[in-house]
Amino acid sequence: LSDPTEESKRLSAYKAVDENFPPSAKVIGIGSGSTVVYVAERIGQLDNKADFVCIPTGFQSKNLILDNGLKLGSIEQYPQLDIAFDGADEVDTQLNAIKGGGACLFQEKLVAYSSKSFILVADYRKKSQNLGVQWTKGVPIEVVPSAYVYLTGKLNEYGAESVVLRQGGSAKAGPVITDNNNFIIDAHFGAIQDPKQLHQQLKMTLGVVETGLFLDYPQKAYFGEKDGSVVVRT
Ligand code: A5P
Repeated sequence: LSDPTEESKRLSAYKAVDENFPPSAKVIGIGSGSTVVYVAERIGQLDNKADFVCIPTGFQSKNLILDNGLKLGSIEQYPQLDIAFDGADEVDTQLNAIKGGGACLFQEKLVAYSSKSFILVADYRKKSQNLGVQWTKGVPIEVVPSAYVYLTGKLNEYGAESVVLRQGGSAKAGPVITDNNNFIIDAHFGAIQDPKQLHQQLKMTLGVVETGLFLDYPQKAYFGEKDGSVVVRT
């Protein structure tokens, strides 16, 4: 690939699949975003792809599964996954992550919680020392639509530096609607000192469905570097 960032995404995804895909796996989670495209591509190259089922984390992910000739299943049919692969917006040294840049954080977390093993794949821009430093667009928070004004006030009270109701941009006039028919608020808190405490505070707030703070789940994170190497954090 001529674009170095794109190539770094591909390298991290291929290596993560090659090193972690369990030969006898029966149920696999496929995340969302632009890096997971290469995860699905690599899994689609496996000879035994008729032997396992893939569980999507959203609409894009479902199409990735189908486009790569993989078997599609639902989390309701297959609530126990052997392994899941997903992208990330930022990952710290403890493997805490911010996710939800693609607005699929709820299903992504459901899949992560349901998997024996959870592997993150990303390019070098996502590798961080502390959450909130590299990814300054804010923590994605999925919210019940009618609560967004109330929550904007609450997030300001909690010390957010910026609170933005995510918009569809040129693709849609008005806010982004998630696969669960909710809104996304991006709230930037600067460098997050205590991600667990922030996650708990947000979760206790009326109208919050889920936060994009993924804490304690990833077993490993793969980062494609500019020079063609892959850094693995465990
Ligand atoms: C989707 O909601 C996100 O969590 C993505 O996994 C995340 O934004 C990473 O996306 P990219 O692989 O496109 O950077």
